[in-house]
Amino acid sequence: MARPIAKAVIPAAGLGMRLLPSTKSQPKEMLPVGRKPILQHVVEELQAAGLRQILIITGRRKRVIEDHFDPDAELVAALEQAGNEAALADLAYLGDRSRFFYTRQSTPKGLGHAISLGADFVASDDFVVALGDSLIVAEDPAAPLRAMMEAHRHLGASAVVAVEKVPQEEVFRYGIVSIDGAEPPPGEPVAMTDIVEKPAPGTAPTNLAVAARYVFSPAIFETLNRTTPDKRGEIQLTDAIRLLIHKGEPVYAWLLTRNQRRYDVGNFESYFRTFIDFALADERYGYLVRKYIKAKAYEL
Ligand code: G1P
Repeated sequence: MARPIAKAVIPAAGLGMRLLPSTKSQPKEMLPVGRKPILQHVVEELQAAGLRQILIITGRRKRVIEDHFDPDAELVAALEQAGNEAALADLAYLGDRSRFFYTRQSTPKGLGHAISLGADFVASDDFVVALGDSLIVAEDPAAPLRAMMEAHRHLGASAVVAVEKVPQEEVFRYGIVSIDGAEPPPGEPVAMTDIVEKPAPGTAPTNLAVAARYVFSPAIFETLNRTTPDKRGEIQLTDAIRLLIHKGEPVYAWLLTRNQRRYDVGNFESYFRTFIDFALADERYGYLVRKYIKAKAYEL
């Protein structure tokens, strides 16, 4: 029987240009959403899905990421002395639930290139990719990945890719997939017949957008090596998945269910929206934010 998947790769090397000046010296993955940096939400999702070895692909100006995931005995001692139980509980993500590994993408050669830097870490194991600027919101945020890993194992897949429906006017921002049949059932794997990265307006085959979570077999590395750079000189993960499909490898799309949502923080509009939703849902402070927004709404 196949061993459970234990490894995950989080690409977090993007330059965050659309979030300047916030990202001038600070990685976009470390911007707070609610009370935690974005990347901590992603790491906690992976830990809850049972992933124990996490490789973060960083880059220049990203060193604070390593500090954030590094246990700090002095800080813990100070909190213990102060009897600050709440803050101590908030540091639980630093427990021994996972080991962190880091490597750097020193030139912006695209998402596919970033993933290819994980080849030595992954070796011959199946693995998860979770984009470091996208969050899954659900009662159980790890549920999609758990189900995708199970489908991957069960089907002997080369790739299982999370997708979500997006409005037609937004398809040009995403990887867009084609499937067998018209409408995929949510929460079930469906064979993917094609995939295209950021199709020009009016040319998208569907409105099923790649939703930042993937399960791969190591076969992806061989196709990444054979993927030619796009017109911006970047190697796209989407193009490598397309090669897998064209080789006849089993590749599946997995549609998020109605109660599972992906948030991204690629620009200020989506970042503000994400922050507000997380602040509203916060178990400690949400009621105060709700009160504030209700009062504020009268002024708008
Ligand atoms: C990346 C992927 C794209 C995917 C998107 C999801 O694009 O290339 O296929 O749909 O993430 O967030 P990016 O957002 O890096 O431009």
